[in-house]
Amino acid sequence: KRLAIFASGSGSNAEKIAEHFANHSEIEVSLILSNNPQAGVIARARRLHIPVILFDRKTFYETDKVVKILQNEHIDLVVLAGFMMLIPEAMVHTFPNKIVNIHPALLPKYGGKGMYGHFVHEAVVAAQESESGISIHYVNERYDEGDIIFQATCPVTPTDTPEDVAAKVQVLEHKYYPEVVEKILITL
Ligand code: GRF
Repeated sequence: KRLAIFASGSGSNAEKIAEHFANHSEIEVSLILSNNPQAGVIARARRLHIPVILFDRKTFYETDKVVKILQNEHIDLVVLAGFMMLIPEAMVHTFPNKIVNIHPALLPKYGGKGMYGHFVHEAVVAAQESESGISIHYVNERYDEGDIIFQATCPVTPTDTPEDVAAKVQVLEHKYYPEVVEKILITL
């Protein structure tokens, strides 16, 4: 089975997933794609010897080049890991229930356009939530609204800062995303 990972930022989740499958006989991370030439994920991909494809907004939304690459590479599952762009409808329809995303909060709360990274954890702290966590979900054409596949929680204490929450959530991301992706791939 062949995975493509989309990332716009640091790529720590992409790296954890790639490391998880590094010695797997049946599953490989075949491609890492990004819209951000400065993304930290590019250096991580180089170290992991995974090919990187960069594209810009115009290519992603006005051509089918990215979808064509995924098809030519026989990608079985598309994994979004800190990818900051909405997935074009054509891509959602080309890969039905084959695009998954991780959101650093307990959807349906704290999701949607603009709710990413620090903003999510600030909102959780501001709301004085007693817990936060991760949501792994199928991707459709609206931000963070696809069917939820898996959630895990972590406690939030009254003294926690958004950075404290981000750190606890990231532990969950790195622990669960690789194994949830593996479970999805086995069903494909
Ligand atoms: C994570 O918080 C993830 O939940 C969100 O974007 C961040 C990606 O972090 N989708 P990284 O680039 O994988 O380190």
